[in-house]
Amino acid sequence: MDMILITGGAGYIGSHTILNLIEKTDYKIIIFDNLENGHIETVNTLLEINSKRQRRADARIIFEKGDLRNIEDIENVFNKHSIDGVIHFAAFALVEESVKNPSKYYRNNIYGTLNLLDTMIKHNVKRIVFSSTCATYGNPQYTPINEKHPQNPINPYGYSKLAIERIMDDYDKAYGLKSIRLRYFNVAGADEKGRIGEWHEPETHLIPNILKANDVKTFTIFGNDYDTRDGTCIRDYVNVLDLAEAHRLAYEYLLEENKTDVFNIGTGEGYSVKEVFDACERVLKKKIPVEVKGRRAGDPAVLYADIGKVKNILNWKPERSLEDSIKSSYLYFCKNKK
Ligand code: UFG
Repeated sequence: MDMILITGGAGYIGSHTILNLIEKTDYKIIIFDNLENGHIETVNTLLEINSKRQRRADARIIFEKGDLRNIEDIENVFNKHSIDGVIHFAAFALVEESVKNPSKYYRNNIYGTLNLLDTMIKHNVKRIVFSSTCATYGNPQYTPINEKHPQNPINPYGYSKLAIERIMDDYDKAYGLKSIRLRYFNVAGADEKGRIGEWHEPETHLIPNILKANDVKTFTIFGNDYDTRDGTCIRDYVNVLDLAEAHRLAYEYLLEENKTDVFNIGTGEGYSVKEVFDACERVLKKKIPVEVKGRRAGDPAVLYADIGKVKNILNWKPERSLEDSIKSSYLYFCKNKK
C-alpha cells in the first residue's frame, strides 16, 4: 500500500481528503503542514478518527510540521519516510489578498511547490495530485467552462497556480513527473458528523459568512448589479466530501494509468449569491440580516464548470446538493462556535 505525503493536510480540503482516505483506503499518510492556516486541532481530530478505525499495529498517519519554503523541511520528510506519491494542497488561496500581496503568493505557492517537486524528483517520486483552480481561466469567454478554455488568470493567485501547472508539464517532459491537476470551482460543506469543517481566520467565503451572520453581524452581498439573472455573482459550489473523493480517484488513476491530465471539479450548476443566501435561510429556518454593498475587486460575474471530462474519465460525479453543503457547514459551525 502506498505511502502518500499530503501537503496542507491540516487545512480545509486537505483534511477532508485525509478523512476520505482513512475511511476508504489503507494508504499510509504523512501530513505535512506549517500550521499557518491549517490547525493542529484538525490534525488531532484526524489522528483520533484514525485510531478508532486502526486495524494495524503500525502508525498509519504521521504529522510532520514543516514549511515548503524551507527545502530542508521537505527533504527531512523524504529522508525519513518512504513516500510513493503526493497530494499537494499547501497554498495560499485568497484572490483579493493575492492582489494586495503578490509576493506572498508567488513565494509560497510557486517557490514552495518547486522545492517540493525537486525533492520528489531527487527521491524518484513521480506521482502528484495537485489542487489547481478555476481561477486559472480568468474571466470566462464562455460557460460552462471546460478544460480547453483559455487560461488567462486575472489575479496573482490564479497566475501562481497556472505557473505550477506549466512547471508540472515541463517536469513531466524532462523528468517523467506525472500529475493530475484538479481545477476546483467553489468548495463548500463539511464532514457530515461535524468533526472537521471550514475554518479560516478571517473567514471570507460566502456560505460560512452567511451562516455567521446574526443580530449583531450583518451578511454583506458584494454587488447586485452584475449581468446575471438577479444581479449577483454566479458560482459553482462543489461539496468538499465529493471533492475529497475526486482526489482519491485521481490518485488511483495515476497509479493505474501513470498519465498527466487535468480535470475540472464542480457540479456543472451555477447558483447566484442571492440564491445561496435564500437556501441558507431555508435550511436555518430563520431570517438572516443582509445588506448590499459594492462589488468586490476581481470577482467575475459567472463561473461554472463543464464536468463532462471528469465524469467520463475518473467516473466521478457530485453526490451532494447545495443544501447538503449548507447543512453540514451549519452543523460544523454550531458544534464549533466557541
Ligand atoms: N460573497 C459575498 N459576500 C461575502 C462573501 C462572498 O457576496 O461575504 C460573494 C463573492 O463576491 C462571490 C461569491 O460570493 O461573488 C463567492 O465568494 P467566495 O469568497 O466564497 O469565493 P470566491 O469565488 O471568491 O473564491 C473561491 C476560492 C478561490 C477560488 C475560487 C474559484 O476562495 O480560491 O473560489 O471560484 F479560486
